[in-house]
Amino acid sequence: MANVIVIGAQWGDEGKGKVTDLLSRSADVVVRYQGGVNAGHTVVVKDRTFKLHLIPSGILYPETECIIGSGTVIDPQVLIQELDQLKALGISTDNLFISDTAHVTMPYHRLIDKASEERRGNHKIGTTGRGIGPTYADKSERIGIRILDLMDPQAIKQQLHWTVNYKNAILEKLYNLPPLDPEEVISQYLEFAERLRPHVVDCSLKIYDAIQQRRNILFEGAQGTLLDLDHGTYPYVTSSNPVAGGACVGAGVGPTMIDRVIGVAKAYTTRVGEGPFPTELGDKLGELLCDRGAEFGTTTGRRRRCGWFDAVIGRYAVRINGIDCLAITKLDVLDELDEIKVCVAYEIGEKRCQDFPSSARLFSQCRPIYKTLPGWQQSTADCRSLEDLPKQALDYLKFLAELMEVPIALVSIGASRDQTIIVEDPIHGPKRALLDANGTPVASYKAS
Ligand code: IMP
Repeated sequence: MANVIVIGAQWGDEGKGKVTDLLSRSADVVVRYQGGVNAGHTVVVKDRTFKLHLIPSGILYPETECIIGSGTVIDPQVLIQELDQLKALGISTDNLFISDTAHVTMPYHRLIDKASEERRGNHKIGTTGRGIGPTYADKSERIGIRILDLMDPQAIKQQLHWTVNYKNAILEKLYNLPPLDPEEVISQYLEFAERLRPHVVDCSLKIYDAIQQRRNILFEGAQGTLLDLDHGTYPYVTSSNPVAGGACVGAGVGPTMIDRVIGVAKAYTTRVGEGPFPTELGDKLGELLCDRGAEFGTTTGRRRRCGWFDAVIGRYAVRINGIDCLAITKLDVLDELDEIKVCVAYEIGEKRCQDFPSSARLFSQCRPIYKTLPGWQQSTADCRSLEDLPKQALDYLKFLAELMEVPIALVSIGASRDQTIIVEDPIHGPKRALLDANGTPVASYKAS
């Protein structure tokens, strides 16, 4: 294979779980590089559904090593539940490793996440309430607890006494909440520490050794490009960097080690939580997409907002991540429709706009300009090659590839592993077309 990053090209929930699960077959090591238990991957193998929040879906392959990297934030309670769940299903977790420098989500992070959302009133972010933002905030404030701190029982007792008391002042005085008992928190986390100890490694060193041995590494992004702290629809974003560049920082590898970036996008768009969403369908059609696509959050169960495919954010994701090829998921959800719209540009006031605006205020004023394509009104669930697809479905894919100027390597038409059309080998197939001096692609991009 090669060293490959898989990222979400929209607002998360693009179906990365299934794509990374498929690619994990040829990976020796799978690395999660950011986010925490706000993520949720659903993988269906035969008749069994696996819902994972922190552990990479590569764990389902016995030989594959899985690493939860330094850029993640780890809620030990949830991680231990996942370990137990996998064990109960007879899946070994001996190959799971966690970075000693990942930060730890504590009970006060969860409390502060929920309480601060309430305080925001109309300006709330719509977080998952899992303490993600407060954990990353402590990391930046340099008062975070890292996995390696947890591994030192004497030092962590002292550290947690100070931190819990400090957070109690915030809980009590700012949010009017009861304080936490430092002794209780310490004894609970010391127990967690012993459970996790066998899995703790120097993540960057382990990955470097694997690269030296020419093993294949898959870097698995959580959330999506538009939720990126620096490049997303700020402030309606998560607190980490899901973009491809985040993989280098979060895993501790240099950019020269990366061979390829695969972007995953749904054939339409969804978003959970607050924030602007120009192609959102607030009508029956939006409900139909939600129902047909089972668009409910893996982590919170919230109904996802649904809308048409937005090629402006698609092109932005290609640019920001350097996407080489795309995996388009959930094409089958569009099967029933008589016509399908794709947003090709925005209108802001009288002005046409081709590029994603940096300001959420401007973005909320963007009105989509659509191109309408005919639907195919027949099931694609049993298609296994491009030739099996109805002509209109193929035209739709070609249109997306042309708009985004990247080849489509893989199309998913259902949840199970076999409901996948491999157009080109996503790892070794064609890469993103390079532009010549006139801005013309020097290699052709295509969906077939
Ligand atoms: P947080 O990451 O819990 O702080 O939430 C911040 C924003 O990111 C909210 O809009 C969440 O709904 C969104 N978000 C976080 N994780 C995911 C995910 O895995 N999929 C989709 N949206 C997410």
